[in-house]
Amino acid sequence: MTDAATKPTPRPSSLPAKPRIYSGIQPTGRPHLGNDLGAIRNYVALQDRYEAIYCIVDYHALTHVHDPEVLRRQTLEMAAALIALGLDPKRCTVFVQSHRPEVTELCWLFNTVTPVGWLQRTPTYKEKRANQPEDVNHGLLTYPVLQAADIALPKASLVPIGKDQAPHLELTREIVRAFNARYGETFPEPKAVYTEAPVVLGTDGVKKMSKSIGNTIEVLAEPDMIRKQVMSMMTDTQRILRTDPGRPQVCNVCQLHRHFGDDYEEIWEGERTARAGCVDTKKLLAQRIIDHYAPARETYRELMADPVRLRGILDEGAERIRPIAEATMAEVRERMGLR
Ligand code: TYM
Repeated sequence: MTDAATKPTPRPSSLPAKPRIYSGIQPTGRPHLGNDLGAIRNYVALQDRYEAIYCIVDYHALTHVHDPEVLRRQTLEMAAALIALGLDPKRCTVFVQSHRPEVTELCWLFNTVTPVGWLQRTPTYKEKRANQPEDVNHGLLTYPVLQAADIALPKASLVPIGKDQAPHLELTREIVRAFNARYGETFPEPKAVYTEAPVVLGTDGVKKMSKSIGNTIEVLAEPDMIRKQVMSMMTDTQRILRTDPGRPQVCNVCQLHRHFGDDYEEIWEGERTARAGCVDTKKLLAQRIIDHYAPARETYRELMADPVRLRGILDEGAERIRPIAEATMAEVRERMGLR
């Protein structure tokens, strides 16, 4: 686990006594390997060290999910998956973004300190505009302001994320800095916390793993599906024959073996010397992923079979952060002259 920034940030006087961590994840249904290796593993590791709050960001998802049933189902699936992968609702707070609508008020207030140019320059905005040219809604532009509001509402100072979210976190820092400069020290400038795998490449071996690209390995899928997804992975494109020596440093399959098992060097050497073929290495990886996530897959199934219990956990999470959200909003309104 590595902190992105090294310099300590001065602590505003109204900061919580214990550093708070916050992260959000879109309700995309079952998470993929990139979500788990790049972020969720840190959510789990950090829940014992800090006061941890994790949110399923359904407001954000509305910028591209327009079917209410799909949104509802995928929100529950993500909640079940997070708990199955190790979040313990007794040791951390898990809630759904729209259950605490104060965040939309804070987003609006942050809009008034955010120059439009900052948002237009954000690389993720340019990407999303290109991905859905038929639906360039205003939510896409203001998406990072809502993300800043998510993080600032509980005054979080650490944010476990993958590298793709770095521009959003940088913008969050700029937005809270702009707010603090205009209205007085209110929010900490949050820092990113990365895992050992801040960028996980997809099955194409080129782009980051992402559901919208369709190059994922779904960690809680049935074994056959995982096998299919892993067997479709690109390996070293220059390795044509089984007897050709490979280049494990550019082979995504070999790189993923780092996270499953303790014989990475051996696998590297096997690939380099052509002792092992691409198919063997992929079969082994698929089996290891299947085995590694077997207990989580079972818990996920149980949770999905009991939506009442799942909704209860999410309601409790939203209630738990109600006083935090209300206190921040009272302070912010006071500072801005709204009350
Ligand atoms: P989202 O839902 O796309 O992804 C959730 C988390 O998974 C990480 N991640 C990856 N890490 C490494 N390699 C990959 N291929 C990969 N794909 C996804 C993401 O970096 C993220 O940490 N905008 C955010 C959600 C959000 C949020 C927030 C995050 C809303 N508010 C406040 C942090 C704090 C998003 O779309 O993540």
